[in-house]
Amino acid sequence: RTIRLADYQPYSHLVERVELTFRLHPTATRVRAALHMAANPAARAGQDLRLDGEGLRLISCAIDGRAVQPILDATGLTLAVGVLPAQPFVLETEVEIAPEGNTALEGLYMSKGMYCTQCEAEGFRKITYYPDRPDVMARFHVRIESDLPVLLSNGNPVGQGAGWAEWDDPWPKPSYLFALVAGDLRAHPGDFTTMEGRAVSLNIWVRPGDEGRCAWGMEALKASMAWDERVYGRAYDLDVFNIVAVDDFNMGAMENKGLNIFNSKAVLASPETATDDDFARVEAIIAHEYFHNWTGNRITCRDWFQLCLKEGLTVFRDQQFSGDLRSHAVKRIEDVLMLRARQFREDGGPLAHPVRPDSFVEINNFYTATVYEKGAEVIGMLKRLVGDADYARALDLYFDRHDGQAATIEDWLKVFEDTTGRELSQFKRWYTEAGTPRLSVTEDWADGVFTLTFGQVNPPTPGQPQKAAKVIPVAVGLLNPNGDEVVPTMVLEVTEERQSFAFKGLATRPVASILRGFSAPVLLERVVPAAERAFLLAHDTDPFNRWEAGRSLAKEVLARMILDGAAPSADLLDGLRRIAFDEGLDPAFRALALRLPGEDDMAATLHAAGHVPDPARIYAARRALHLALAEHLGPRLPALEEACRVPGAFSPDAAAAGKRALRLASLSLLARLDGGAAARAAYRAADNMTESFGSLAILLDIGAGESELADFAAKWQQDRLVLEKWFAVQVSAAAPDKVADVVRKLTQRADFDWKNPNRFRAVIGALSGNHAGFHHASGEGYALLADWLITLDPKNPQTAARMSTAFESWPRYDADRQAMMRGALQRIMAAPGLSRDLSEMAGRMLG
Ligand code: ARG
Ligand code: ZN
Repeated sequence: RTIRLADYQPYSHLVERVELTFRLHPTATRVRAALHMAANPAARAGQDLRLDGEGLRLISCAIDGRAVQPILDATGLTLAVGVLPAQPFVLETEVEIAPEGNTALEGLYMSKGMYCTQCEAEGFRKITYYPDRPDVMARFHVRIESDLPVLLSNGNPVGQGAGWAEWDDPWPKPSYLFALVAGDLRAHPGDFTTMEGRAVSLNIWVRPGDEGRCAWGMEALKASMAWDERVYGRAYDLDVFNIVAVDDFNMGAMENKGLNIFNSKAVLASPETATDDDFARVEAIIAHEYFHNWTGNRITCRDWFQLCLKEGLTVFRDQQFSGDLRSHAVKRIEDVLMLRARQFREDGGPLAHPVRPDSFVEINNFYTATVYEKGAEVIGMLKRLVGDADYARALDLYFDRHDGQAATIEDWLKVFEDTTGRELSQFKRWYTEAGTPRLSVTEDWADGVFTLTFGQVNPPTPGQPQKAAKVIPVAVGLLNPNGDEVVPTMVLEVTEERQSFAFKGLATRPVASILRGFSAPVLLERVVPAAERAFLLAHDTDPFNRWEAGRSLAKEVLARMILDGAAPSADLLDGLRRIAFDEGLDPAFRALALRLPGEDDMAATLHAAGHVPDPARIYAARRALHLALAEHLGPRLPALEEACRVPGAFSPDAAAAGKRALRLASLSLLARLDGGAAARAAYRAADNMTESFGSLAILLDIGAGESELADFAAKWQQDRLVLEKWFAVQVSAAAPDKVADVVRKLTQRADFDWKNPNRFRAVIGALSGNHAGFHHASGEGYALLADWLITLDPKNPQTAARMSTAFESWPRYDADRQAMMRGALQRIMAAPGLSRDLSEMAGRMLG
């Protein structure tokens, strides 16, 4: 059944207060609920009372203490309007559920002896009968009865004794923010005093043995709390803030009020077990979930179509935070790499949907790169258009006006309109229309006037054949041929399908640096001579565009190597060499510049240019370019590698991490020349996971590293998070014709626990991430993925559906591959008892 935005109706009742009592038991947990309800004056009067509920065994149901007989069906319970009192009333239910058998990891489930919950988006209905929709906001009081030592829920602790604990959350919230945890857990404590003077106890709760991996997460939490006060004026609002690490979790983490629940891998970190990237990711996810307290919890979403209201804004905020703590330039490049790899890919295929979708079958399928990452880009554009000061004023008004409410994108835009007087109806198209705009630019120079002419094309997407022009903020700067900036960055507002901007009073023809900082999520189509790209790579004053110049040049060079066997160009190799050895530049930036465009990226690029990508040729050309680069930088690589060694005790800070990244980039190049000798030495000497895992991956990539791989396995056998890396790297580094065998071998191991989402993703996710292997002409990659999705779906539909997106790129490839990919999707569609999640995804991909 399709749910539509246009059908929104307010809920018939208000829920003033909820009292929940849990008597925990693995196979027979009892949940008693008392809902204090009243008719909703904003809704149509005289409606039946409908509560959501799935997989619940109803024990009893009463209104104001008198038993009533509801009508039950597969998705909930109905009480006819006739049995409802005219005045406010209390509805009491008791249900029984079996958390132990809950392999979908949605609702209340168990992970290695601990109870935990995941309710967003619609998991609460698997716990008790309730109006499980975000616009019903209630105050929750929770009593947990269990012999387990640690019993947690939302809000503040208000009482505990032998075998019980009670929690009270003073802030009204929707059911998706409910959480409960019970287990034998250890706390890593901390504290924070808010700018309002509230003393807050912080805790990261982990299973025994993981205590030593919490310190980084705690630091990140405190930094997040301070940052949100300083930058957005938002203080925390409870006496405690708890974070729990769980090994079995479908996503990264969840912002439940006062009780964030994290996938272990998104919170635990230590120098021995986590890479620099892991540290940065933990920091960002802690911040993201913490920031949701205001953007998501205090102000939530009216309905799930508004998901980007909280996710886009919270991603935008966590990106600002990481940029402030680390480097804005590096963060922006990393974010754009991610956006292009995941969101542009989504936007250009059969799963394209607007940042605010207008229909869905299963909402879990819309926690996408479009809602999250493009949602954040849209906010970045808004900020660029109105300026920093007005952005700050608009946000103040947003928090002021909508605190305690379930809001919409219309509310959000209205706040900006009221603050700035700007009319935002054209801007709103970014929320309602899917697809990545293609922006072309031509330039003209005559009589001292430099003119840029932009053209925008908004391509058709499923269900949206025609689109009008969008407002596109294009940040532009002009450089003199000697490298000086003659026109510093300014934002041009492109609002028409074709539009020109003239720059007067220039002595010489300038070089244009366009779309600085990636000021809009568009595909820039611009014919630039290689020499001009090389000039920008050497001189652009905007760090993003400097990187982008090298990136575009590398893509053009690679494309020619793939399509007509051309040799790598000297422009590119010289430019990259200059960057690599330029000690005036941030090592992290240099490392990013040396990272060649990925194979999937090249496939997308070739497809967009009207070619049919051949995965085997892409693979070969990319390796050839890597080798050519290694030879070009050759003699100076050992010195670079040595200069990037970080002395002293490991610290995950951005400066040290940047040096290690550059060291690994040089080791990877060096491995092409020395058979891996330097990488092998680095592996042996490493005292941290970044360098030991990094050098292992380099060795595997050149077809070496067998003994290091065995050594790594022996060392980390007992460590589930590190073992994930061991599983994944073998698949990612496997040669195209070996991947299927490697996956088959790994999945036969006793420790391949495929019901654990992390382990499943480590192997099966790495399979679809190995471009040439997944798309191997044999079709084995496709078949393997389909087999595993069909196996996983009955146990965990959410993760199965998410991983099926590997097939979304089918329209890019040749007829044989298209047939095989579509065949795999059809085979999935035909699987008996297929979940709503996976069938929606496969159906949309087949079109
Ligand atoms: N709100 C969570 C976050 O962004 C993620 C929840 C994902 N839920 C889902 N059903 N996929 O941090
Ligand atoms: Zn989020």
